[in-house]
Amino acid sequence: MLAQAVRMVASAPSPESARESRGCSMSYPLFKVLHLLGVFLLFAALGAAVLRAYAAGHAPPRDRASKLAGITHGLALLILLVTGFGILGMLKLGVPGWAWAKLVVWLAMGALVVVIRRAPGAAGGLWWLLPALGLVAAWLAIYKPF
Ligand code: HEM
Repeated sequence: MLAQAVRMVASAPSPESARESRGCSMSYPLFKVLHLLGVFLLFAALGAAVLRAYAAGHAPPRDRASKLAGITHGLALLILLVTGFGILGMLKLGVPGWAWAKLVVWLAMGALVVVIRRAPGAAGGLWWLLPALGLVAAWLAIYKPF
């Protein structure tokens, strides 16, 4: 078991060789880290909006908190789109099927703030649906199934 683990580590490519084998520069890991920043901001903003609606039981007031969540949500969507297409360009992948599917998830993440406002009763369900959508987005990028 230990010998197997040592063999795996020894044969694992270094970050440099992984980058070289993908034929791209330092920007690839940077864009990936920024893409993840977009993910964190997105879930912070949507989580806050959902929880406020859930606690209030009706559309929450348009106050400082909802403004902060709104700005964070918009910024997150922008970062995700720019870095997502940036990585696609760096990897010279074109726009494969899984990237179109991610774009649909992205659109859904954008539209959900309107749903949270208009149908606050759905907030309890959205609390679980949002991470499920995030899981789909991550699965699409990592497994690239089509
Ligand atoms: C709903 C918003 C999105 C979420 C939650 C999301 C999430 C993720 C996650 C978790 C990863 C894996 C990062 C890693 O390998 O460590 C990833 C990678 C990636 N995403 Fe997104 N993403 C979103 C939107 C997008 C969009 C709109 C695009 C552009 C079409 C995109 C393109 C990519 C690409 C190209 C990668 C890297 C794949 C690779 O390195 O082989 N993502 N995304």
